[in-house]
Amino acid sequence: MKAVAQAQPNIALIKYWGKRDHEANLPAVSSFSLTLDSLRTTMSVEFCDRPGRDTLRVNDAPAPGMLDRVSACLDLVVGSKRAAAEVISEVNFPIGAGLASSSSAFAALVVAAAASSRTTIDTQTLARLAGACSGSAARSLYGGIVELTAGEEQISVQPLLQSQPWPLEVVVAVTEKGKKPVGSGEAMVRGEKTSPFYSSWLARQDEDLEVARAAVLRQDFNSLAEVAEHNCLKMHSVMWSSKPPIVYWNSATLSCLEAIRTLQDQGHAVFFTMDAGPQVKAICLPDSVDVVMAALRQTPGVQDLMHSKLGAGARLLRST
Ligand code: DP6
Repeated sequence: MKAVAQAQPNIALIKYWGKRDHEANLPAVSSFSLTLDSLRTTMSVEFCDRPGRDTLRVNDAPAPGMLDRVSACLDLVVGSKRAAAEVISEVNFPIGAGLASSSSAFAALVVAAAASSRTTIDTQTLARLAGACSGSAARSLYGGIVELTAGEEQISVQPLLQSQPWPLEVVVAVTEKGKKPVGSGEAMVRGEKTSPFYSSWLARQDEDLEVARAAVLRQDFNSLAEVAEHNCLKMHSVMWSSKPPIVYWNSATLSCLEAIRTLQDQGHAVFFTMDAGPQVKAICLPDSVDVVMAALRQTPGVQDLMHSKLGAGARLLRST
């Protein structure tokens, strides 16, 4: 009764920010993302006969702070009258630092939990279960370019384009490796309650999604770049205008944006996006990757670079 699953984080180009229903963790807006390849979470779940609490280790260390969310996720997938589970997670990138680590964690967890409890669940339902644990995780069940539609009662998730036909790549400039000061869940609630821009953020989201969807289907990089940067800056405007304000950026974040503007002026196919953290994600076409990496490596305050192509959705590696 042990299963091991792998999932990769996804980076939203049209962002999820705000919840329609906090209890069910239903997003207030639809969203659109890229599933990565080389950043990975491997999750092993084993249900044991012993009574008592679940245990969780992340990268070889106990992780009590995340245990409640993990246990709640196991309850959702397997039911609350279940045996205690031993959960072991290995992650090859910084956790809780705005690199979407919860998206790969919960996507891998639902797949491993279902397999280790011998429960057959289709991918769409697994995506809904993952989304109930962390909204962005629903998108990591699928690979390539993925759209999440936020309905009144539930979400639906569909891959829009696999990675092969349009091989977008992502360079991540890490400007801070520590944990973010305010988690995204808490930051969203603050934005919903206090930002004067929140209602217009909601009102314009479907327009942005339509433009992004059309750009992807035409493989129109410039149009995708324009709407994704605009959408990202609107989300950060909601954060900045929350009370008290939430500013995830540092001075290196801004230096990266300047470096990307310079590359764009030189004609390189690259645009930026940022999430609930100070890291900058540069989305580019394969021909521009080397020059983007060189420019970001030289940018003051950049501590590390990661590079990824687009990858597949969450999957089971083995079950015994
Ligand atoms: C900025 O999925 O972490 O990355 O549902 O509260 O767990 P919870 O939020 P989470 O939020 C992700 C926010 C974002 C944008 C995005 O991924 O769409």
